[in-house]
Amino acid sequence: MSQLVHALGHVKMNTNCIDESVRDATDVLGLRVTRETGNEVWLSANGRAAELVFVDAAENSAHTIGLEALSAADVAEAASRVEGAGCQIISQDPSMDCMDAGVTFATLEGLQFEIHTPTRDDLFNPRYATKGVGPRRLDHANIITPDPLATRAQLEAIGDIRQSERMVNYALSWYYGGNRQHHILGLVMGDAPGIHHYSFEFLEFNMYCQLADTLSLEGRHLIWGPGRHKPGDNTYSYYLDKSGCIVEVSGAMSHIADEKNFEPRVITNLERPANVVEMNVWGTPAPEEWRAHTHPFMTLD
Ligand SMILES: [Fe+2]
Repeated sequence: MSQLVHALGHVKMNTNCIDESVRDATDVLGLRVTRETGNEVWLSANGRAAELVFVDAAENSAHTIGLEALSAADVAEAASRVEGAGCQIISQDPSMDCMDAGVTFATLEGLQFEIHTPTRDDLFNPRYATKGVGPRRLDHANIITPDPLATRAQLEAIGDIRQSERMVNYALSWYYGGNRQHHILGLVMGDAPGIHHYSFEFLEFNMYCQLADTLSLEGRHLIWGPGRHKPGDNTYSYYLDKSGCIVEVSGAMSHIADEKNFEPRVITNLERPANVVEMNVWGTPAPEEWRAHTHPFMTLD
């Protein structure tokens, strides 16, 4: 049976500086605004209706992580599994009218996910004018959870997300969906629920130069990279968005082509500096700013 969750669907973020957040996403990263509705601004890197959503709010926090399923039947199947996995259904209506079906649920650890059908996609009009770099697509997100084993079990049970790689102590672990890229979701062990970063895909390496030059003109800088992650084999760099969340920009990831014979890799070498190449095969270690970064999840009722 194919996996219920296929890909990362969208990331919804609360921001207390929505105008700055939108300008940053459009003029630096290079997304476009597709719609302003209520207290939300929808943004996309292509023809899709919403990949990143900013919510005008009093705080800076993660609102919801959207996980894409391919059909309303798959969303309904996922919804039927939520309570059995120990999670709480918040809504069985899609959160945005650009998707046909969605189920939003909260976990005991304080995370909120929506499994939803794909957002509308204007496939033959993917390009637009932008002052920013212009990534291709939303790629993955790394979520902070106090209990990665519990979060893993919930997402496996509800969405059939599967592990591709982990550190032996679960400080970091990575999970794939139906599109078979090495990870659509990463779990970071932390004291409180949050988001570590969300990621958009860069097609060409000179995009990292353009991004760093653009940031430097505003007195900003890359936090880490460019480098090449061993988990996923993708190039990467990171910077902070205006609400204080890390954005990753990343090259194409490895895919799990032969799942039948695939064994998730367990990283047992956790001691620095020998383990640096486990995260960056080019050898530059992750700085403290990246390793210690947290960005909270909103408080769930
Ligand atoms: Fe990442």
